[in-house]
Amino acid sequence: MSDERKAGVRGLKQRVKTARKRTLSSQRWLERQLNDPYVARAKREGYRSRAAYKLLEIDEKHRLLKPGQRVVDLGAAPGGWAQVAARKVGSPEGRGKVVGIDLLPIEPLPGVDFVQLDFLAPEAPERLVELLGGEADVVLSDMAANATGHKKTDHLKIMGLAEAAAEFARSVLAPGGAFLAKVLQGGTEGALLTDLKRDFATVRHVKPAASRSDSAELYVLAMGFRGR
Ligand SMILES: C[S@@+](CC[C@H](N)C(=O)[O-])C[C@H]1O[C@@H](n2cnc3c(N)ncnc32)[C@H](O)[C@@H]1O
Repeated sequence: MSDERKAGVRGLKQRVKTARKRTLSSQRWLERQLNDPYVARAKREGYRSRAAYKLLEIDEKHRLLKPGQRVVDLGAAPGGWAQVAARKVGSPEGRGKVVGIDLLPIEPLPGVDFVQLDFLAPEAPERLVELLGGEADVVLSDMAANATGHKKTDHLKIMGLAEAAAEFARSVLAPGGAFLAKVLQGGTEGALLTDLKRDFATVRHVKPAASRSDSAELYVLAMGFRGR
């Protein structure tokens, strides 16, 4: 058998095995990953996640991250946003500071301090402030709980995380600081939006191009923290 045919047979076997082992939804996810231009770009440009492009785009448009700033990254794994933040503030060169937290372990990154912990654990805010060594200029939250498939439950979970992130931001931001958090379409009405509008000079919703159009995901961006 030619090498080409052998490779073809191997490829076919691999596909059959994968198809039998995977659930339909994980197979769809894999197919989408393989065909996603942002996934390919992240691989080429050395970013750990396609999500990095969401932050890059928001930053480019709204001038969120500046040299020397202190940044907290909530839900940081695998580290794409932290890579972007570190580069923008200059933490690998000793300027500013980037601190990240996630339930999952994260491979070390130059200029970033990671803590593996549930952000909702009572000790989490204090650990982050300790690592930061002072007030923050920017609080980022890309936190998302694993989807259960039950729309209402997923919605409540993600909004609960955004609300906890906003509360933390209010307790740690320096005046003038900014807060960016993942929310869901239709989810920032009510208390969260009212509170953000009271505490920040500008509040807007942003949907970067890298955020899949078929996803209800959206980001709320609050800038110009008025102080505590
Ligand atoms: C979409 S990913 C973040 C991707 C990241 N921004 C990047 O660019 O690499 C969401 C993350 O939120 C984390 N997460 C969800 N709930 C959390 C919690 N309660 N505490 C800490 N991390 C949490 C998940 O473990 C997951 O890694």
